[in-house]
Amino acid sequence: MIRLEDVCKVFAGAQGSVEAVKHVHLTIETGEIFGIIGFSGAGKSTLLRCINLLERPTSGRVLLDDTDITQLSEADVRAVRRRIGMIFQQFNLFASRTVFGNVAFPLAGRGLSREKLKARVGELLELVGLSGREDSYPSQLSGGQKQRVAIARALASEPEILLCDEATSALDPQTTHAILQLLRELNRKLGLTIVLITHEMQVIKEICDHVAVMEDGAVVEQGEVFSVFAAPRRPVTRSFLEMTSHMAGFRRLLEEKSPVLQLRPGQCILSLRYLERNACSALVSYLSRTYGVDLNIIFGNIEMIGDHPLGGLIVIAEGGEKAIADCIAYLQNIHVGVEVLLDARTAH
Ligand SMILES: Nc1ncnc2c1ncn2[C@@H]1O[C@H](COP(=O)(O)OP(=O)(O)OP(=O)(O)O)[C@@H](O)[C@H]1O
Ligand SMILES: [Mg+2]
Repeated sequence: MIRLEDVCKVFAGAQGSVEAVKHVHLTIETGEIFGIIGFSGAGKSTLLRCINLLERPTSGRVLLDDTDITQLSEADVRAVRRRIGMIFQQFNLFASRTVFGNVAFPLAGRGLSREKLKARVGELLELVGLSGREDSYPSQLSGGQKQRVAIARALASEPEILLCDEATSALDPQTTHAILQLLRELNRKLGLTIVLITHEMQVIKEICDHVAVMEDGAVVEQGEVFSVFAAPRRPVTRSFLEMTSHMAGFRRLLEEKSPVLQLRPGQCILSLRYLERNACSALVSYLSRTYGVDLNIIFGNIEMIGDHPLGGLIVIAEGGEKAIADCIAYLQNIHVGVEVLLDARTAH
Protein backbone atom coordinates (compact mmCIF):
# COMPACT_ATOMS: atom_id res chain seq x y z
CA MET A 1 0.00 0.00 0.00
CA ILE A 2 2.80 2.43 0.86
CA ARG A 3 5.90 2.19 -1.26
CA LEU A 4 8.95 4.38 -0.99
CA GLU A 5 11.26 4.16 -3.98
CA ASP A 6 14.75 5.55 -3.73
CA VAL A 7 13.62 8.37 -1.46
CA CYS A 8 16.25 10.99 -0.60
CA LYS A 9 15.88 14.15 1.43
CA VAL A 10 18.58 16.78 1.55
CA PHE A 11 18.28 19.84 3.78
CA ALA A 12 20.25 22.88 2.73
CA GLY A 13 21.65 24.60 5.79
CA ALA A 14 24.08 27.38 6.68
CA GLN A 15 26.78 24.80 7.45
CA GLY A 16 26.23 22.99 4.17
CA SER A 17 23.64 20.43 3.25
CA VAL A 18 22.44 17.51 5.39
CA GLU A 19 21.43 14.25 3.74
CA ALA A 20 18.74 13.29 6.22
CA VAL A 21 17.33 10.40 4.17
CA LYS A 22 19.42 8.43 1.72
CA HIS A 23 18.04 6.17 -1.02
CA VAL A 24 15.35 4.51 1.05
CA HIS A 25 13.26 1.69 -0.41
CA LEU A 26 10.40 0.40 1.72
CA THR A 27 7.15 -1.43 1.15
CA ILE A 28 4.49 -1.28 3.84
CA GLU A 29 1.52 -3.58 3.41
CA THR A 30 -2.08 -2.69 4.15
CA GLY A 31 -3.09 -3.57 7.70
CA GLU A 32 0.35 -4.12 9.13
CA ILE A 33 2.28 -2.38 11.88
CA PHE A 34 5.58 -1.29 10.47
CA GLY A 35 8.29 -0.02 12.79
CA ILE A 36 11.27 2.13 11.96
CA ILE A 37 13.97 2.16 14.61
CA GLY A 38 17.11 4.24 14.78
CA PHE A 39 19.16 6.42 17.08
CA SER A 40 18.62 10.15 17.35
CA GLY A 41 19.38 11.92 14.08
CA ALA A 42 19.09 8.77 11.98
CA GLY A 43 16.44 10.42 9.80
CA LYS A 44 13.35 8.65 11.13
CA SER A 45 11.09 11.68 11.50
CA THR A 46 12.15 13.04 8.14
CA LEU A 47 11.38 9.72 6.47
CA LEU A 48 8.01 9.43 8.22
CA ARG A 49 7.11 12.96 7.15
CA CYS A 50 7.93 12.04 3.55
CA ILE A 51 5.05 9.55 3.66
CA ASN A 52 2.44 12.30 3.98
CA LEU A 53 4.60 14.86 2.20
CA LEU A 54 4.90 17.10 5.23
CA GLU A 55 8.44 16.82 3.95
CA ARG A 56 8.90 16.76 0.18
CA PRO A 57 11.50 14.20 -0.87
CA THR A 58 14.39 15.76 -2.78
CA SER A 59 14.20 12.77 -5.11
CA GLY A 60 12.46 9.41 -5.30
CA ARG A 61 8.84 8.35 -5.36
CA VAL A 62 6.21 7.88 -2.65
CA LEU A 63 3.45 5.57 -3.81
CA LEU A 64 0.12 5.12 -2.08
CA ASP A 65 -1.83 2.33 -3.75
CA ASP A 66 0.36 2.72 -6.83
CA THR A 67 -0.20 6.47 -7.16
CA ASP A 68 2.97 8.54 -6.94
CA ILE A 69 1.79 11.26 -4.59
CA THR A 70 4.85 13.43 -5.21
CA GLN A 71 3.32 14.14 -8.63
CA LEU A 72 -0.07 15.28 -7.33
CA SER A 73 -1.36 18.85 -7.15
CA GLU A 74 -1.49 20.56 -3.73
CA ALA A 75 -5.27 20.02 -3.59
CA ASP A 76 -4.89 16.33 -4.27
CA VAL A 77 -2.10 16.06 -1.71
CA ARG A 78 -4.45 17.57 0.88
CA ALA A 79 -7.01 14.90 0.04
CA VAL A 80 -4.36 12.22 0.42
CA ARG A 81 -3.34 13.63 3.81
CA ARG A 82 -6.88 13.08 5.06
CA ARG A 83 -6.27 9.37 4.57
CA ILE A 84 -3.23 9.60 6.84
CA GLY A 85 -3.45 10.45 10.54
CA MET A 86 -0.45 11.37 12.64
CA ILE A 87 0.47 11.43 16.32
CA PHE A 88 3.56 12.78 18.06
CA GLN A 89 5.74 12.38 21.12
CA GLN A 90 4.53 15.69 22.57
CA PHE A 91 0.86 14.97 21.76
CA ASN A 92 0.40 18.41 20.10
CA LEU A 93 -3.03 19.00 21.61
CA PHE A 94 -4.66 22.44 21.69
CA ALA A 95 -4.20 23.47 25.31
CA SER A 96 -7.07 25.97 25.18
CA ARG A 97 -9.60 23.45 23.89
CA THR A 98 -11.32 20.70 25.79
CA VAL A 99 -10.97 17.05 24.88
CA PHE A 100 -14.19 17.46 22.90
CA GLY A 101 -12.79 20.49 21.08
CA ASN A 102 -9.59 18.67 20.24
CA VAL A 103 -11.24 15.55 18.89
CA ALA A 104 -13.92 17.50 17.02
CA PHE A 105 -11.35 19.78 15.39
CA PRO A 106 -10.76 17.72 12.21
CA LEU A 107 -14.52 17.32 11.81
CA ALA A 108 -15.16 21.07 11.55
CA GLY A 109 -16.52 22.16 8.20
CA ARG A 110 -18.12 18.81 7.53
CA GLY A 111 -21.57 20.18 8.16
CA LEU A 112 -22.31 17.73 10.99
CA SER A 113 -25.15 18.67 13.31
CA ARG A 114 -24.29 19.25 16.96
CA GLU A 115 -25.86 15.88 17.85
CA LYS A 116 -23.99 13.99 15.15
CA LEU A 117 -20.74 15.67 16.20
CA LYS A 118 -21.32 14.75 19.84
CA ALA A 119 -22.11 11.18 18.90
CA ARG A 120 -19.02 10.88 16.70
CA VAL A 121 -16.69 12.36 19.33
CA GLY A 122 -18.27 10.05 21.91
CA GLU A 123 -17.57 7.07 19.66
CA LEU A 124 -13.98 8.10 19.12
CA LEU A 125 -13.39 8.59 22.84
CA GLU A 126 -14.88 5.22 23.56
CA LEU A 127 -12.55 3.69 21.00
CA VAL A 128 -9.53 5.03 22.87
CA GLY A 129 -10.90 4.28 26.35
CA LEU A 130 -11.65 7.87 27.39
CA SER A 131 -15.44 7.93 27.50
CA GLY A 132 -16.87 10.77 29.49
CA ARG A 133 -13.76 12.97 29.45
CA GLU A 134 -15.17 15.41 26.84
CA ASP A 135 -15.00 18.42 29.14
CA SER A 136 -11.49 17.97 30.52
CA TYR A 137 -8.65 20.19 29.35
CA PRO A 138 -5.32 18.65 28.28
CA SER A 139 -3.64 20.07 31.40
CA GLN A 140 -5.98 17.91 33.49
CA LEU A 141 -4.89 14.70 31.77
CA SER A 142 -1.96 12.36 32.24
CA GLY A 143 0.49 11.76 29.39
CA GLY A 144 -1.17 8.50 28.45
CA GLN A 145 -4.60 10.14 28.41
CA LYS A 146 -3.29 13.00 26.28
CA GLN A 147 -1.95 10.51 23.78
CA ARG A 148 -5.35 8.79 23.73
CA VAL A 149 -6.96 12.12 22.88
CA ALA A 150 -4.38 12.66 20.14
CA ILE A 151 -5.17 9.21 18.75
CA ALA A 152 -8.92 9.91 18.82
CA ARG A 153 -8.30 13.19 17.00
CA ALA A 154 -6.10 11.46 14.43
CA LEU A 155 -8.83 8.87 13.82
CA ALA A 156 -11.63 11.42 13.46
CA SER A 157 -11.28 11.66 9.70
CA GLU A 158 -11.22 7.87 9.42
CA PRO A 159 -7.71 7.55 8.04
CA GLU A 160 -6.43 4.29 6.59
CA ILE A 161 -2.91 4.98 7.80
CA LEU A 162 -1.63 6.24 11.15
CA LEU A 163 1.89 7.64 11.39
CA CYS A 164 3.33 7.67 14.91
CA ASP A 165 6.42 9.78 15.61
CA GLU A 166 7.83 8.49 18.92
CA ALA A 167 4.28 8.31 20.25
CA THR A 168 5.29 6.59 23.48
CA SER A 169 8.69 8.16 24.12
CA ALA A 170 7.34 10.59 26.69
CA LEU A 171 5.51 7.88 28.62
CA ASP A 172 6.51 5.52 31.41
CA PRO A 173 6.79 1.79 30.62
CA GLN A 174 3.31 0.83 31.87
CA THR A 175 1.64 3.63 29.96
CA THR A 176 3.74 2.82 26.91
CA HIS A 177 2.48 -0.73 27.10
CA ALA A 178 -1.15 0.43 27.39
CA ILE A 179 -0.85 2.78 24.40
CA LEU A 180 0.84 0.08 22.32
CA GLN A 181 -1.97 -2.31 23.18
CA LEU A 182 -4.45 0.34 22.08
CA LEU A 183 -2.61 0.79 18.76
CA ARG A 184 -2.61 -2.97 18.24
CA GLU A 185 -6.33 -3.10 18.98
CA LEU A 186 -7.10 -0.27 16.54
CA ASN A 187 -4.92 -1.97 13.94
CA ARG A 188 -6.97 -5.15 14.28
CA LYS A 189 -10.39 -3.63 14.76
CA LEU A 190 -10.20 -0.96 12.07
CA GLY A 191 -7.66 -2.58 9.76
CA LEU A 192 -5.56 0.54 10.31
CA THR A 193 -2.08 0.46 8.80
CA ILE A 194 0.38 1.85 11.34
CA VAL A 195 3.85 3.17 10.67
CA LEU A 196 5.70 4.03 13.82
CA ILE A 197 9.15 5.31 14.53
CA THR A 198 10.96 4.80 17.78
CA HIS A 199 14.36 4.45 19.38
CA GLU A 200 12.96 1.91 21.81
CA MET A 201 13.42 -1.72 21.00
CA GLN A 202 10.57 -2.69 23.30
CA VAL A 203 8.08 -0.86 21.09
CA ILE A 204 9.18 -2.80 18.02
CA LYS A 205 9.19 -6.11 19.85
CA GLU A 206 5.78 -5.58 21.30
CA ILE A 207 3.64 -4.70 18.32
CA CYS A 208 5.44 -4.50 14.99
CA ASP A 209 5.15 -7.01 12.17
CA HIS A 210 8.01 -5.62 10.09
CA VAL A 211 10.90 -3.41 11.04
CA ALA A 212 13.39 -1.21 9.24
CA VAL A 213 16.57 -0.18 11.02
CA MET A 214 17.85 3.27 10.11
CA GLU A 215 21.35 4.56 10.52
CA ASP A 216 22.72 7.81 9.22
CA GLY A 217 19.81 8.42 6.84
CA ALA A 218 19.80 4.95 5.30
CA VAL A 219 17.74 1.84 5.98
CA VAL A 220 20.47 -0.69 6.77
CA GLU A 221 18.35 -3.70 7.56
CA GLN A 222 14.68 -4.63 7.23
CA GLY A 223 12.33 -7.56 7.34
CA GLU A 224 10.04 -9.43 9.66
CA VAL A 225 10.73 -8.33 13.23
CA PHE A 226 11.43 -11.83 14.32
CA SER A 227 13.92 -12.64 11.56
CA VAL A 228 15.74 -9.34 11.84
CA PHE A 229 16.24 -9.70 15.56
CA ALA A 230 16.90 -13.42 15.52
CA ALA A 231 19.81 -12.89 13.15
CA PRO A 232 20.82 -9.22 13.26
CA ARG A 233 23.42 -8.46 10.61
CA ARG A 234 24.40 -4.92 11.53
CA PRO A 235 26.09 -3.68 14.69
CA VAL A 236 23.41 -1.00 15.05
CA THR A 237 20.69 -3.65 15.01
CA ARG A 238 22.56 -5.65 17.60
CA SER A 239 22.94 -2.68 19.87
CA PHE A 240 19.17 -2.11 19.79
CA LEU A 241 18.56 -5.73 20.53
CA GLU A 242 20.92 -5.71 23.45
CA MET A 243 19.18 -2.78 25.04
CA THR A 244 16.32 -4.98 26.12
CA SER A 245 18.16 -8.23 26.60
CA HIS A 246 20.79 -8.82 29.21
CA MET A 247 23.41 -9.17 26.51
CA ALA A 248 24.68 -5.65 26.96
CA GLY A 249 26.21 -6.48 30.33
CA PHE A 250 27.83 -9.50 28.83
CA ARG A 251 29.33 -7.50 25.97
CA ARG A 252 30.79 -5.09 28.51
CA LEU A 253 32.56 -7.96 30.23
CA LEU A 254 33.98 -8.90 26.84
CA GLU A 255 35.12 -5.38 26.06
CA GLU A 256 36.71 -5.02 29.46
CA LYS A 257 38.46 -8.35 28.89
CA SER A 258 37.10 -9.49 32.20
CA PRO A 259 38.97 -12.33 33.88
CA VAL A 260 35.58 -14.03 34.18
CA LEU A 261 35.86 -14.74 30.49
CA GLN A 262 39.40 -16.03 30.48
CA LEU A 263 39.64 -18.83 27.93
CA ARG A 264 41.98 -21.77 27.85
CA PRO A 265 43.76 -22.46 24.55
CA GLY A 266 41.43 -24.31 22.18
CA GLN A 267 38.25 -22.74 23.55
CA CYS A 268 36.02 -20.07 22.10
CA ILE A 269 32.90 -18.23 23.21
CA LEU A 270 29.91 -18.47 20.92
CA SER A 271 26.66 -16.57 21.00
CA LEU A 272 23.69 -18.53 19.72
CA ARG A 273 20.31 -17.04 18.87
CA TYR A 274 17.68 -19.60 18.15
CA LEU A 275 14.06 -19.49 17.40
CA GLU A 276 12.32 -22.08 19.46
CA ARG A 277 12.19 -22.27 23.19
CA ASN A 278 12.72 -25.99 23.45
CA ALA A 279 15.50 -26.10 20.92
CA CYS A 280 17.88 -24.97 23.65
CA SER A 281 18.75 -28.01 25.70
CA ALA A 282 18.20 -30.41 22.83
CA LEU A 283 20.55 -28.40 20.65
CA VAL A 284 23.36 -28.34 23.17
CA SER A 285 23.24 -32.05 23.83
CA TYR A 286 22.88 -32.81 20.11
CA LEU A 287 26.01 -30.80 19.28
CA SER A 288 27.98 -32.47 22.06
CA ARG A 289 26.99 -35.93 20.89
CA THR A 290 27.36 -35.34 17.18
CA TYR A 291 30.51 -33.25 17.02
CA GLY A 292 32.17 -34.17 20.28
CA VAL A 293 32.22 -30.49 21.23
CA ASP A 294 31.70 -29.49 24.84
CA LEU A 295 29.36 -26.57 25.18
CA ASN A 296 29.38 -24.99 28.56
CA ILE A 297 26.46 -22.59 28.94
CA ILE A 298 27.55 -19.42 30.71
CA PHE A 299 24.53 -17.25 29.93
CA GLY A 300 21.04 -17.76 28.57
CA ASN A 301 17.82 -15.85 28.14
CA ILE A 302 14.49 -15.99 26.39
CA GLU A 303 12.67 -12.89 25.24
CA MET A 304 9.31 -12.45 23.62
CA ILE A 305 9.06 -10.90 20.18
CA GLY A 306 5.40 -10.55 19.38
CA ASP A 307 4.07 -13.98 20.25
CA HIS A 308 7.33 -15.81 19.63
CA PRO A 309 10.01 -16.63 22.15
CA LEU A 310 13.48 -15.79 20.97
CA GLY A 311 16.29 -17.53 22.76
CA GLY A 312 19.86 -16.53 23.28
CA LEU A 313 22.72 -18.56 24.69
CA ILE A 314 26.34 -17.81 25.32
CA VAL A 315 28.51 -20.89 25.49
CA ILE A 316 32.15 -21.75 25.85
CA ALA A 317 32.96 -24.32 23.19
CA GLU A 318 35.84 -26.72 23.38
CA GLY A 319 36.69 -29.76 21.31
CA GLY A 320 39.13 -29.12 18.50
CA GLU A 321 39.21 -26.54 15.73
CA LYS A 322 37.63 -28.69 13.04
CA ALA A 323 34.84 -29.96 15.29
CA ILE A 324 33.96 -26.42 16.37
CA ALA A 325 33.99 -25.23 12.75
CA ASP A 326 31.65 -28.09 11.81
CA CYS A 327 29.44 -27.20 14.70
CA ILE A 328 29.21 -23.58 13.56
CA ALA A 329 28.46 -24.63 9.99
CA TYR A 330 25.69 -26.89 11.23
CA LEU A 331 24.17 -24.11 13.33
CA GLN A 332 24.20 -21.72 10.40
CA ASN A 333 22.57 -24.39 8.32
CA ILE A 334 19.64 -24.74 10.69
CA HIS A 335 19.36 -20.94 10.93
CA VAL A 336 20.61 -20.51 14.43
CA GLY A 337 22.31 -17.11 14.53
CA VAL A 338 25.86 -17.84 15.62
CA GLU A 339 28.66 -15.47 16.35
CA VAL A 340 32.16 -16.06 17.71
CA LEU A 341 32.57 -13.56 20.53
CA LEU A 342 36.00 -14.54 21.77
CA ASP A 343 38.42 -16.93 20.19
CA ALA A 344 41.32 -18.85 21.69
CA ARG A 345 41.08 -21.78 19.30
CA THR A 346 44.46 -21.20 17.73
CA ALA A 347 46.15 -19.85 20.87
CA HIS A 348 49.03 -21.87 22.17
N1 LIG B 1 14.17 21.06 8.70
C1 LIG B 1 15.46 20.65 8.78
N2 LIG B 1 16.46 21.42 8.33
C2 LIG B 1 17.75 21.02 8.37
N3 LIG B 1 18.15 19.82 8.85
C3 LIG B 1 17.19 19.00 9.32
C4 LIG B 1 15.81 19.36 9.31
N4 LIG B 1 15.10 18.33 9.84
C5 LIG B 1 15.99 17.38 10.17
N5 LIG B 1 17.24 17.76 9.86
C6 LIG B 1 18.47 16.97 10.03
O1 LIG B 1 18.27 15.72 9.42
C7 LIG B 1 18.82 14.68 10.21
C8 LIG B 1 17.76 13.67 10.56
O2 LIG B 1 16.81 14.27 11.44
P1 LIG B 1 15.49 13.54 11.95
O3 LIG B 1 14.75 14.51 12.78
O4 LIG B 1 14.77 12.96 10.79
O5 LIG B 1 16.10 12.37 12.83
P2 LIG B 1 15.37 11.40 13.86
O6 LIG B 1 15.87 10.04 13.54
O7 LIG B 1 13.91 11.62 13.83
O8 LIG B 1 15.97 11.85 15.25
P3 LIG B 1 15.26 11.90 16.71
O9 LIG B 1 15.25 10.48 17.20
O10 LIG B 1 16.21 12.74 17.50
O11 LIG B 1 13.91 12.48 16.55
C9 LIG B 1 19.46 15.36 11.41
O12 LIG B 1 20.83 15.53 11.13
C10 LIG B 1 18.76 16.68 11.48
O13 LIG B 1 19.59 17.65 12.06
MG1 LIG C 1 12.53 12.29 15.22
